[in-house]
Amino acid sequence: MEAIKILGISGSPRKKGNSNYLLEIALETARSVAPEMVETELYSISGKTFNPCDACNQCHDQLGYCRQTDDDFAELRDKWIEADAIIYSVPVYHMGIPGQLKIFIDRLGNSWVESFTSRPLKVIGVLAQGSGMATGQETAMTFINVHAVMSGCIPVGGDWPASYIGASGWTRVEEGKSALRKLHAEEDADTVFTVDSIKVLSKNVVHTAMIVKAGGKALQEMLKEDGGYEIFLRRIT
Ligand SMILES: Cc1cc2nc3c(=O)[nH]c(=O)nc-3n(C[C@H](O)[C@H](O)[C@H](O)COP(=O)(O)O)c2cc1C
Repeated sequence: MEAIKILGISGSPRKKGNSNYLLEIALETARSVAPEMVETELYSISGKTFNPCDACNQCHDQLGYCRQTDDDFAELRDKWIEADAIIYSVPVYHMGIPGQLKIFIDRLGNSWVESFTSRPLKVIGVLAQGSGMATGQETAMTFINVHAVMSGCIPVGGDWPASYIGASGWTRVEEGKSALRKLHAEEDADTVFTVDSIKVLSKNVVHTAMIVKAGGKALQEMLKEDGGYEIFLRRIT
């Protein structure tokens, strides 16, 4: 089987901040789970521009197409479409995800309506951290999981007790870009728990993506006949 591609998307507008730090751990773990079988790429939205959807609806029924081309949407969309699995790492913003990433998902979702009838079956995991302890991590992770389901993808969590719907953390109300890196170095118990849960989630993402790809190849004749898997089959065959 050829390698699976995992795209890590850091949803923070800050370069090399806490979301980036956790995502690096997730991608490093993913590579270690199955060296030679896993390719990873980290994409940071920092410094990128995503103009909001203006509801022109020209994208409907044109996979991935968007009329607006004067920003970075297409660059990330193409990477998203190509990946077997996505790991989002987001800072909590106002109990949700940062606006830049929400804009990307809005536009991807609408130009991806074909996926409502043809399931791309990407595996999607999420990491969320904020300055508070339980101050929006769950709502942010739930949104990403809903986005996965809406996009015909497969949301994957961690294992009990670490991460039910994703892996989450907090910076102990420290606003610095390196807060989690420092807390991890100091072996702060909550941050160690966060990192452990990221490793479990990351392993689950890799295993599920490999199972899905191998299963898709084995069952491709049946899936072709069904007709609801064109996007998935285009990617894996
Ligand atoms: C506009 C804004 C809104 C925020 N809202 C929340 C929030 O609702 N809950 C929370 O726990 N942290 C909130 N934070 C704090 C960030 O989530 C936190 O500092 C995080 O570690 C930043 O991650 P980064 O270093 O990857 O940018 C907010 C920060 C900003 C700038």
